[in-house]
Amino acid sequence: MKIKIGVIGASGRMGQEIQTVISRNEQLENFCAVDRNEEPGAKASEVDVWIDFSSPEALSKNLQWAITNQKAFVCGTTGFSQEHYRLLEKAAEKIPVLWASNMSMGVAVLNEALKAFSAIADFDFQIEEIHHNKKKDRPSGTAITLKQNLEKVLNKSVPETLAIRGGGVFGVHKIFAMSDEEVLTFEHTALNRTVFAKGAVKAATWLVEQKPGLYQIRDVLFGKRN
Ligand SMILES: NC(=O)c1ccc[n+]([C@@H]2O[C@H](COP(=O)([O-])OP(=O)(O)OC[C@H]3O[C@@H](n4cnc5c(N)ncnc54)[C@H](OP(=O)(O)O)[C@@H]3O)[C@@H](O)[C@H]2O)c1
Repeated sequence: MKIKIGVIGASGRMGQEIQTVISRNEQLENFCAVDRNEEPGAKASEVDVWIDFSSPEALSKNLQWAITNQKAFVCGTTGFSQEHYRLLEKAAEKIPVLWASNMSMGVAVLNEALKAFSAIADFDFQIEEIHHNKKKDRPSGTAITLKQNLEKVLNKSVPETLAIRGGGVFGVHKIFAMSDEEVLTFEHTALNRTVFAKGAVKAATWLVEQKPGLYQIRDVLFGKRN
């Protein structure tokens, strides 16, 4: 039986890429595509897992389709407020929910690698990100997650992220660790949008097997932390 996937924000840049990835996988079915001002109707009860890359304003309504039908929900939308994170947490009491500001496996590993910085917590740190000129939020959701994780590791605050917008850059994130004698840089570059779409689809096929709870992309690679 194919896994039936519902894509929200279907005609957006990510939505289209996700549908292409699904269509190339024989185990998956592009079952339902939802855009602004559209409803899945009766199809919502047959979707196995939703993938939402739309907008923060749409989150509450989108989650409802999944909760009503007890289905898994993968979300890659960024630009969320505390209220949006609370909605995800509340939904996760009833269904499996995975939100990630960056669905690439490389950034999942980068977030883990930040732990090594604890050994040089006395260095100066700076995060920089570059994205295409159509990106609506700044700093990027990925940079916000990296900063939160880095601050936890270092047990100190890190300066505001430098956010650069221009051209068609899919996403570059750099973390600089600087002392008087050396500079260490961790860097991730997304070479295309497919990397996020593949990660989101991988997360969706993993999430349908999970029990209700709030998951991160790292859990797909390393298993859920307790
Ligand atoms: N987590 C990751 O790995 C990752 C990677 C890339 C991007 N993102 C994030 O994913 C989101 C989408 O990015 P994108 O580049 O694909 O943007 P986009 O091209 O603007 O696509 C968003 C799509 O969602 C639609 N939409 C907006 N509000 C909606 C609503 N209320 N209900 C249903 N559909 C709605 C938009 O329709 P209209 O055109 O009518 O507005 C558009 O088709 C952004 O938040 C972006 O930062 C995350």
